Amino acid sequence: MSLGSKGRGRRFTVARTVREMVARVIYAGDWPARALDRWGRARVETVRHQIAAGRAARPPLRIGFISDLHVGPLTPTRLLEAAFARLAAEAPDVLVLGGDYVFLEATAAKADLIARLVAGVPAATKVAVLGNHDLWTDHALIEAALERGGARVLVNRTLRLPPPHDDVALVGLDDPWTGEPDPDRAFAEAAGAAVRIAVVHAPEGYPFVRDRGAALMLCGHTHGGQIAAPQGPVVVHGHLGRRWPAGLYHVDGLPLFVSRGIGAVEIPLRLYAPPDVGIFTIA
Ligand SMILES: [Fe+2]
Repeated sequence: MSLGSKGRGRRFTVARTVREMVARVIYAGDWPARALDRWGRARVETVRHQIAAGRAARPPLRIGFISDLHVGPLTPTRLLEAAFARLAAEAPDVLVLGGDYVFLEATAAKADLIARLVAGVPAATKVAVLGNHDLWTDHALIEAALERGGARVLVNRTLRLPPPHDDVALVGLDDPWTGEPDPDRAFAEAAGAAVRIAVVHAPEGYPFVRDRGAALMLCGHTHGGQIAAPQGPVVVHGHLGRRWPAGLYHVDGLPLFVSRGIGAVEIPLRLYAPPDVGIFTIA
């Protein structure tokens, strides 16, 4: 039994410790994921958006975005494979991963699955940020898996794309709720890039991105409420998550996209919050 976070993540409360202990007992043997693998529907929506970033002189840049895999007892492998197959079929220039790769602890088996899924997408550039569930466990194991899959993990760092997209910088911030976002450092590395695309696990990262000249902010974390009503989410984590639970918003001129992610936490159910992957054309 572990009390407290096994990683560097903050806010691993006593209540969280108890909830995870109970989840380990109730979901022992990963029976929900196994049952869903057998009888569930692997339904994934592809969400497409065009972002105008003044790049008429350049070929359009295509970004595939996936978040909240939550590999663990509640997420069927077949669903994850379906989501990554969609991204592989799109063959985007860039694959962006939005964090929360696991639910409960990181293990070698979970890491192997993450590495295999990420490696299967034929993108020239892959980047990843970390989420709260990653920082609460052995995140070094997750980071190594992402790198094995070909992704560069951006913790308050920036990656400038190669030509013909070298006008674009991908700015990855640490998880805003449990980590230590450092936008000054991350955006300083983007100096000189005409187009900055910010990636941060949760909508709570917005205060660290606004006024930094970003053309787009990508995040996840909300699961679109995971359990929602036909007219919208019921319970969403975080006050900015409640304001922007899922989809594309325009906030003071900044296009802000919130993915519903793929996997599940706490209970093996999604209702009116289907998994999604995003395809963004930056023109
Ligand atoms: Fe999260």
